[in-house]
Amino acid sequence: MIDDYYEHRIRAVDEVILIPETEPDRQYYFMSKLRELISEKEQEKGGKLTYHVETFGCQMNAKDSEKLAGILSAVGYEEVETEEADMVIYNTCTVRENANTRVYGRIGFLGTLKKKNPDMHIALCGCMMQEEEAVEKIKKSYRFVDIIFGTHNIYQLAELLYRRMNGEERVISLLKDTKLIVEDLPSELKFSFKAGVNIMYGCDNFCTYCIVPYVRGRERSRRPEDIVKECEHLVSRGVREIMLLGQNVNSYGKGLEEQVSFAKLLHMVSEVPGISRIRFMTPHPKDLSDELIEEIAVNKKVCRQVHLPLQCGSSRILQKMNRRYTKEQYLELVDKIRARIPDVSLSTDIMVGFPGETDEDNEETIDVVRKARFISAFTFIYSKRNGTPAAKMDNQLSEEEQNRHFKKLLDAVNEVATEEAQRAEGQIQEVLVEEINQKNGMLTGRLDNGLLVHFDGNADLLGSLQRVLLKECKGFYYIGEVVEKN
Ligand code: SAH
Ligand code: SF4
Ligand code: F3S
Repeated sequence: MIDDYYEHRIRAVDEVILIPETEPDRQYYFMSKLRELISEKEQEKGGKLTYHVETFGCQMNAKDSEKLAGILSAVGYEEVETEEADMVIYNTCTVRENANTRVYGRIGFLGTLKKKNPDMHIALCGCMMQEEEAVEKIKKSYRFVDIIFGTHNIYQLAELLYRRMNGEERVISLLKDTKLIVEDLPSELKFSFKAGVNIMYGCDNFCTYCIVPYVRGRERSRRPEDIVKECEHLVSRGVREIMLLGQNVNSYGKGLEEQVSFAKLLHMVSEVPGISRIRFMTPHPKDLSDELIEEIAVNKKVCRQVHLPLQCGSSRILQKMNRRYTKEQYLELVDKIRARIPDVSLSTDIMVGFPGETDEDNEETIDVVRKARFISAFTFIYSKRNGTPAAKMDNQLSEEEQNRHFKKLLDAVNEVATEEAQRAEGQIQEVLVEEINQKNGMLTGRLDNGLLVHFDGNADLLGSLQRVLLKECKGFYYIGEVVEKN
C-alpha cells in the first residue's frame, strides 16, 4: 500500500507537460506516466503485473531494495515471492568473488524464465554494476537483460523503466560517483516494525582488500533533520526499531554545513517518540569516540550491542589492510567499552587469508577472539578483488592455507560465542517479536544483543516487545518462554 503522502506527490504531476529537471519531482513525473502504461498492460494481461526484487549483500542493499520495491508498488506492480514475475530486479553485491558467482548463476536462470514470458523485464543494479568488467560481460553474454543501473542512481528506476517500456531496447545508466542525495521517494518495508535508515552513503576508508569505496563512491552524510524526519515517518507506519546505516558511522557529519557527531545524531533519533530500539552498523574501531560510548551507556533506547569489525588480530596484517589500528589499540577499545557498559555484547567481522598472513598472524586473531569475547562473528575468507591494492600484493595464500586458518578461527569463534551466549541462560530479557518460524510454528524474537529466541506464542505478538525467560541456550539461539507482565 502506498502512503497518502506519496500518492499525493504522484498525482501532483499528473497534469505536468514538461519533464521536471529537478529530483525527485522528475521521478514522480515518470511514476505518473508509468501508471498509465502499466494499467494498459494490466488490461492486456487481464490482471495485475507482478514484481520481485532479490537482494544480495549487506544492509545497504536491503535498504536500497525497499526503495526499488516502493517505486514499483507505487506505479501499480504487485509483489510476488519468486522470480516468476513481470519485473525482476537483482540488486547485486560484489564484496567477494562468490557473491558475483551467485549472481551470474541466477541471471542465467532469469533467461529461461523470460523465454516463457517474453514480456518480462529484467533489471540489474547494485554494487556489481559499478564494475566495468561485470557490465561488459552482461552486455555480451546476457543480452536479455533490459535495464542496468548502479548504486548512485537507484532513485531513477521509474525513469529507466519508462524508457524501456516506451521502446528503448536496452537501458543502461551508470554514474561513476555522485555528490547528490535524492530522497523523499516511496519505499516498501520488508518488516512492518523494524527498518534501516541510511545516515550516510559511500566510504572513504579504502581498506586495501575492499571494493566498497570503488562501487559506493565517496562519503556523504545526510542532514540530521532529514534522518529524523524519515524516522518519524517510519514510526507513523508502525516501526519500533531503527537501524542507522553507514559504512563507517563514526565519520558521520563530515562535510555537513553544521557539524553533528554520530553520538549527537544517535541522541536526536532516540528522541523521536515511538522508537523503542536503536541499532547502528557499522562503527570503525579506529575512531570510535568516548562521546559515542557515553551515549550508548546512558541512552536506554540504544541496544547494548556494539558491532566492532576486527578483520584481523595481527598488527602487521592490520597495517597492510590499512585499518589504522593495532591489536593493542583494538583490545584497549574493547576494555574501555566494557568498563563503561558492563552489560554490552560485542560482535564482529573477521577475515582470514589476507596476503602474507602466517599461522602466527592467525593465532593473534584467535587471541583477540578469546580476549574480546565476541557473542557473534561474521567470518570470511579473503577474496581477491580486482582494482584493490591487496589484489596486487605478494604472497597470496593458497586455498588450502586459507581454509586451514578459517577452520581454526571458526572453532575459536564458536567456542567463545557459545560460552558468552550461555551466560544469559536463566535471565529474563526483552525481545522484539519478529516472525513465525516456518519449521516449528514458534515465534522468533530478537534480543537487545541481536541473538534470537524461539518461544511459543500467538501471532498477534508479532512486532511487539515481550519479556522472555531464556530457558535454554542452544549455542547461538535460545528456547524461551514469555513472562506475563505484572
Ligand atoms: N564497512 C564495514 C564492512 C563492509 S563489508 C566495515 O568496515 O566493517 C562487510 C565485511 O565483508 C567486512 O567487514 C569484511 O570482513 C568483509 N570483506 C570485505 N572485503 C572482503 C574481501 N575482499 N574478501 C573477503 N571479505 C571481505
Ligand atoms: Fe570496506 Fe573498510 Fe570501507 Fe568497511 S571501512 S566499507 S571494510 S573500505
Ligand atoms: Fe554491501 Fe556488497 Fe555492496 S557488502 S556495499 S552490497 S559490495
